[in-house]
Amino acid sequence: MKLFIDTANIKQIEELSKAGIIDGVTTNPTLCEKEGMEFIPAIKKICSLVEGPVSAEAISLKKDEIIKEAKVLANIADNVAVKVPITNEGLAATSQLSKEGVRVNMTLVFSPNQAILAAKAGAAYVSPFVGRLDDIGHDGMQVVEDISEIFINYDIKTQVIAASIRHPQHVTQAALIGADIATVPYEIIKKMMNHSLTDIGIKRFLDDWDKLKKVIKKKQGE
Ligand code: E4P
Repeated sequence: MKLFIDTANIKQIEELSKAGIIDGVTTNPTLCEKEGMEFIPAIKKICSLVEGPVSAEAISLKKDEIIKEAKVLANIADNVAVKVPITNEGLAATSQLSKEGVRVNMTLVFSPNQAILAAKAGAAYVSPFVGRLDDIGHDGMQVVEDISEIFINYDIKTQVIAASIRHPQHVTQAALIGADIATVPYEIIKKMMNHSLTDIGIKRFLDDWDKLKKVIKKKQGE
């Protein structure tokens, strides 16, 4: 499974990209607002930091305007994927954009049927929002599983991005299901690195190493 970072924070992207553990980036208007940044220059910078796809969201709601906006975004760099919300107009725009070679990440997907339509329209990615479904008492990961199964059944090339990830267990579940990608906030990627037994293990090794050094020093002094 590919791991994307779900953030617009340049420092976070830089750090994890240098560590070699992220395959792409997703942003959305909320994440950009949080960073208070100039949108286009920030996307340009992010695209220079990672080789993989960088999702930038179009905010227009009418087909022609979505297409116009998507083309501006797609021109920023070769690795831009344009996020388009799944609506009637969004699907029509996606259909045209995909024919023109613009990669679309169809976003705000909450059901397998929406994902089927996104794939029909030629979206390169679909983003089911796991956490937001869980928030209203649904099983978000089941939707990821259903979409993945449907795409396998029909050899559909659209990739499934498990989005709106809330905790490390979501990442494990997405990987077990066979989601193509999980897009994960920085804090959760950090949590994925940690285990209390790793910390205890390191401390024990270092303590034993110190003890060994003392024994050797003592022997040398004898
Ligand atoms: C990514 O593509 C989505 O925009 C993001 O994962 C949404 O996450 P949220 O539900 O935590 O806002």
